[in-house]
Amino acid sequence: MLWVKSLHIVFIASWFAGLFYLPRIFVNLAMVPADSTAERARLLLMARKLFRFTTILAVPALVFGLWLWLGYGIGRGPGNGWLHAKLVLVLLVIGYHHGCGVLLRRLEAGEDRRSHRWYRWFNEAPVLLLLGIVVLVVVKPF
Ligand code: HEM
Repeated sequence: MLWVKSLHIVFIASWFAGLFYLPRIFVNLAMVPADSTAERARLLLMARKLFRFTTILAVPALVFGLWLWLGYGIGRGPGNGWLHAKLVLVLLVIGYHHGCGVLLRRLEAGEDRRSHRWYRWFNEAPVLLLLGIVVLVVVKPF
């Protein structure tokens, strides 16, 4: 079980590295002057590769979590409200990940006009989600 939990934490950390860095690229894209097509193309290429890699890392992160829950039965049964609350936040993380994909497609199509300030605030969301999830799973407050 500890091997599975170790792999769960390693892939979670890798997944979140991508979720932290991708919106950073969006901030830079929102600040690129309209005539800098080479820089824009370079940033879009980086974002596309990073999004693909981050998506690949999300799969084992979630599979090992499900294995701990459904395989080893951790968090099952009464008195495990922490896992239910954690799963709600995990769904928000998955929604955020999907949202990054939608924004990337819009940026590629040149349809997105959001400011770099909007993306800086957007970039804060995974920090708060990670904080909430880790406190729930380590402290298990309810
Ligand atoms: C399908 C989604 C997920 C499920 C079913 C799941 C389930 C679990 C379970 C059952 C444990 C073992 C808890 C224990 O031994 O006390 C665990 C550990 C952990 N999970 Fe998840 N998890 C999921 C996603 C995530 C995500 C997205 C994060 C981080 C953002 C995360 C962070 C952690 C951490 C840090 C631990 C280690 C806690 C400890 O050792 O005390 N998990 N997870």
